[in-house]
Amino acid sequence: MKRTKIVAGNWKMNNTLEEGVKLAGQIATAKGQTEARVVLCTPFIHLTAVGTQIIGAQNLFLGAQNCHQEEKGAYTGEVSASMLQSVGVEYVIIGHSERREYFKETNAQLAQKLDIVLSKGMTPIFCCGEPLAVRQKEKHVTYVARQLRESLFHLDAATISKIVIAYEPVWAIGTGLTASPEQAQEMHASIRKTLSRKYGKKVASGLSILYGGSCNASNARQLFALPDVDGGLIGGASLKAEDFVTIIHSF
Ligand code: PGA
Repeated sequence: MKRTKIVAGNWKMNNTLEEGVKLAGQIATAKGQTEARVVLCTPFIHLTAVGTQIIGAQNLFLGAQNCHQEEKGAYTGEVSASMLQSVGVEYVIIGHSERREYFKETNAQLAQKLDIVLSKGMTPIFCCGEPLAVRQKEKHVTYVARQLRESLFHLDAATISKIVIAYEPVWAIGTGLTASPEQAQEMHASIRKTLSRKYGKKVASGLSILYGGSCNASNARQLFALPDVDGGLIGGASLKAEDFVTIIHSF
């Protein structure tokens, strides 16, 4: 089955508005025709301006890095799914390991975030992945399966088909340590297997599963060539237009 290829840039808490708009413009100009869908997940305050900057660019979409799980209300400092939708956001990263670690987001809370993002017609990019200590104990497969079970398994088969999954081993994020092709393929295949057991082979084989964690212009081609890797979620290397454009063309 032919799956959608996706490369999403996660800018995290980087770039002023001016720098962000400039970067988006450089990417829109340099990227050319791509087979992959390209998503720019910018800080909230950049969304409107970056959205305007990328209008009309082929296969280029606006993404957010998080949203609150409630519809609206007294949640000072938070941003709702409706707000994101109202500025043209099409993808929302949910459950990034930095959100899980620093903001104590739980699997149950992430399930709620997925629901609200889906209810607004946007596509969640759901992140999963094990910390180093779990990998060292060789418990990574069961750890990630649990993240999937607790955040996704309430969804029905038609709905699960609308999400994108990103496998991001925590020990590889921002560290320059990339998962080896064998490690990435093992986990991507096991994620697909976990979903296949619950939703059937056809649904699981249609899901796009991205790799994230020190993916860069030099290693993207090798990672994207793996049978169960359908693209990448890119942090550091998404902040330089030239590197990001190289990654987009690494299929
Ligand atoms: P990195 O980040 O590419 O800088 O490792 C990836 C991510 O956190 O999404």
